[in-house]
Amino acid sequence: MPPGVTVVDHPLVRHKLTLMRTGDTGTAEFRRLLREIALLLGYEVLRDLPLATRTIETPLAPMESPKLEGKKLVLVSILRAGIGLLDGLLDLVPAARVGHIGLYRDPETLEAVEYYFKVPGHLDDRMLVIVDPMLATGNSAIAATARLKAAGARSVKFLCLLAAPEGVAAFRAAHPDVPVFTAAIDDRLNDHGYIVPGLGDAGDRLYGTK
Ligand code: URA
Repeated sequence: MPPGVTVVDHPLVRHKLTLMRTGDTGTAEFRRLLREIALLLGYEVLRDLPLATRTIETPLAPMESPKLEGKKLVLVSILRAGIGLLDGLLDLVPAARVGHIGLYRDPETLEAVEYYFKVPGHLDDRMLVIVDPMLATGNSAIAATARLKAAGARSVKFLCLLAAPEGVAAFRAAHPDVPVFTAAIDDRLNDHGYIVPGLGDAGDRLYGTK
């Protein structure tokens, strides 16, 4: 495994990913599965979330007990497929702040073109998790991460569902300080920048737009 890359290969993740890859899995089920898988991936990617100890009263006694500093976390979704992962992570950490970056792939060059950017303030003081289901060429992820760093982000992780070896290598070369979490690394990219065997177009499968 390349350094800085975590493949979350829990049996439940692998099972759900197989269902998502299957071509005749419909939109509603695909969306539900992505939300469920996000919970399982979130467990790993959020493993070092900062805690703060509070005094609480159980029915029997007072105790010092840890709670999340939930407001410290920022989840940044790369539109539009990122929203599918974001929804699951928000189930886990409802108090997280949320940012959105709109990027589309130029079909000719496959370069990322930004059309929307809205993120919470004080990024330098927060842990960021950027989410996009498919790390394919890496262009969108690289551009989004650079944009967030330029806006002040210092502690960043990248979470996807599927990655291509090419995308992982390009992303890690551009941002060696940003760890990558994924459910699987597939074989390759095809000539259109799609992950093979992959699961097709994540946005289309999520929203039924094909
Ligand atoms: N985006 C997708 O939705 N699917 C791919 O395979 C690559 C990029």
